[in-house]
Amino acid sequence: MAYPLTAHNTFGIAATCNSFFEYASVEELQALLPQLNQQRWLHIGAGSNLLFVHPHFDGVILHSGIKGWEKINETDTTVDIRVGAGEEMDAFIAQMIVQGYYGLENLSHIPGEVGASAVQNVGAYGVEAGDFIVSVEALEVATQQVVTLQHDDCHYSYRFSEFKGNWRGKYIITKVTFRLKKTFTPILSHKSVPQRLAELGIPLDTARATDLRKAIIDIRSAKLPDPKVIGSAGSFFMNPIVTPEVAKDLLEQFPNMPHYAMPNGVKIPAGWLIEQAEWKGKSLGNAGVHPQQALVLINKGGATGEEVSHLAHTIQQDVKQKFGIMLHPEVMFL
Ligand code: EPU
Repeated sequence: MAYPLTAHNTFGIAATCNSFFEYASVEELQALLPQLNQQRWLHIGAGSNLLFVHPHFDGVILHSGIKGWEKINETDTTVDIRVGAGEEMDAFIAQMIVQGYYGLENLSHIPGEVGASAVQNVGAYGVEAGDFIVSVEALEVATQQVVTLQHDDCHYSYRFSEFKGNWRGKYIITKVTFRLKKTFTPILSHKSVPQRLAELGIPLDTARATDLRKAIIDIRSAKLPDPKVIGSAGSFFMNPIVTPEVAKDLLEQFPNMPHYAMPNGVKIPAGWLIEQAEWKGKSLGNAGVHPQQALVLINKGGATGEEVSHLAHTIQQDVKQKFGIMLHPEVMFL
């Protein structure tokens, strides 16, 4: 038995699994889990942050088909929107803009589903999903009970939540509640955003949410490969955060190194480190480094998971040797 997973991972790796189930409601999920009869299972989203290293996953893959959104609370300035984990994040953001509910515009065009955004705290252009998440509904696997987990308990930080930490494997996310604003204020902290709005001839003080969404889509399209055309999982590694002392030493050696102060240290762009290690645009077998964004590893056609994994490890070694920094994947290896 082998079910093909090529269409379920944006890298386009031709892996397989034993079987694949999509459920449309919490009740269907509750009925499904006991039927798995101790088989190994794995829950995925849109597969936009996954690398199937092995050609076959000897188990069952689950996917949420819980769709739709509803307004569950409202004040003069905010709305709370509960949305199904299987909803596509980008389609959801587009619908919120139409409704006049704002905040998530900078996350436009990120491939992936709502449930995964709450796991990984997806972020781009100065916004993180966790900033807007009020609570997460999930099925506790051991008890089959639906529980509500509050924002503060999820411990959101850069590309992290407890769903990746202490809660790994404990819950299956079914719905996520976002608190959005009724008044639009653009977040312009990433310099490429005001720059693109200026190129579009849109003054910053009159920019609308649709303008911001367009600017973000333009920026992403210029730098990041379209997964429908070139297989990738977006940023492959997380940007490392080093101590101020390490950053100071590195800046003495590499005065042009970009760096950003963070609450817990200094963030250094992994894309810059990889480019300096001379990997930008290079490849190993059918796996390559994107010529426009060194943080993105790509499937040049027919790449195996092992080829991508081998390229990633080689880059890690070279960056470690040149800068003394170990890069950690953002992508989950399976
Ligand atoms: N840079 C290079 N060479 C490169 C790429 C980047 O030198 O080939 C340097 C440049 O100095 C640039 C800096 O890195 O100014 C930052 O680059 P960019 O703004 O493109 O962002 P990033 O740090 O490479 C992160 C996220 C992206 C997100 C962008 C924009 C991570 C792991 N990645 O990338 O998220 O879209 O910021 O906010 O934090 C993703 O997670 O899949 C993703 C695409």
